[in-house]
Amino acid sequence: MTEHEPEEIRQKVREYYTAAAEERASTSSCGCCCGGSDEAEPCCGETSSLYEEDMLANLPKEVTELSLGCGDPVTLAALLPGQTVLDLGSGGGIDCFLAAERVGDEGRVIGVDMTPQMLERARKNKAKIGADNVEFRLGEIEHLPIADSSVDVVISNCVINLSTDKEQVFREIYRVLKPGGRLAVSDIVTNGELPEAIKSDLAAWAGCVAGAVDVEVYRRAIESAGLVDVEIKPVYFGPEMMREAESHIDLKDLDGIPPEKIQTAIFSARITAHKSA
Ligand SMILES: C[S@@+](CC[C@H](N)C(=O)[O-])C[C@H]1O[C@@H](n2cnc3c(N)ncnc32)[C@H](O)[C@@H]1O
Repeated sequence: MTEHEPEEIRQKVREYYTAAAEERASTSSCGCCCGGSDEAEPCCGETSSLYEEDMLANLPKEVTELSLGCGDPVTLAALLPGQTVLDLGSGGGIDCFLAAERVGDEGRVIGVDMTPQMLERARKNKAKIGADNVEFRLGEIEHLPIADSSVDVVISNCVINLSTDKEQVFREIYRVLKPGGRLAVSDIVTNGELPEAIKSDLAAWAGCVAGAVDVEVYRRAIESAGLVDVEIKPVYFGPEMMREAESHIDLKDLDGIPPEKIQTAIFSARITAHKSA
């Protein structure tokens, strides 16, 4: 475990994404949060490499430039018209807006994020797009501001790894899902334990590296909450994305992991599960 207190980590994560929300307004598009630098400079792939290109065609650059995920939970979720969708750690709102197109006017999407500056960006984006079926709420994913059994599908993109209490997050997901409801998540997990030097690095926590846990620990946290049919499929980053990520991660922090193994030691995964009907 890390030597830092959970509240200290949460504060660092909030500061990091506050800076990201404030400073990325004029930067070029870039997905994935796997950077570990001290600066608010989440890193790596182009947003367009996370999503099918035509999915982004209707979104303004204010949305795509603030895409900080590590996958495409919206496609994974196979959403249907009329569904209620909850996005955990919605950031600038990219997955909420993509989900909103799929669930249509009869459906609704709620994004929850703990960083006020992110919510401000997301609400501005909502106004620009005119996405009336999307709502953003301030809150923590460990204590969701959402009623019991009210959501058809929970999605999340590169956020749960940032929580110091993943078991509580999955208990909350179970609570808010309707019977038969589904979970579809993209997140960073590891194959084995990370070296202590990384786990205690607060900047690496905020950059989605140090908080990532072993894939089997992640699976057990989902199952302990009561969710069933858990599937976790690795999506290894390509060489280009890894080079870009490495340029943002201080590689001396990765001592203990041979460079050729980094790609499979820390990876993005597609995670699905559901609540029994
Ligand atoms: C890596 S960004 C991902 C944003 C968005 N999902 C995307 O794909 O662009 C992480 C987001 O999760 C939020 N976040 C991190 N930990 C959180 C927590 N415990 N509760 C609520 N939001 C959290 C941050 O404020 C930030 O907006």
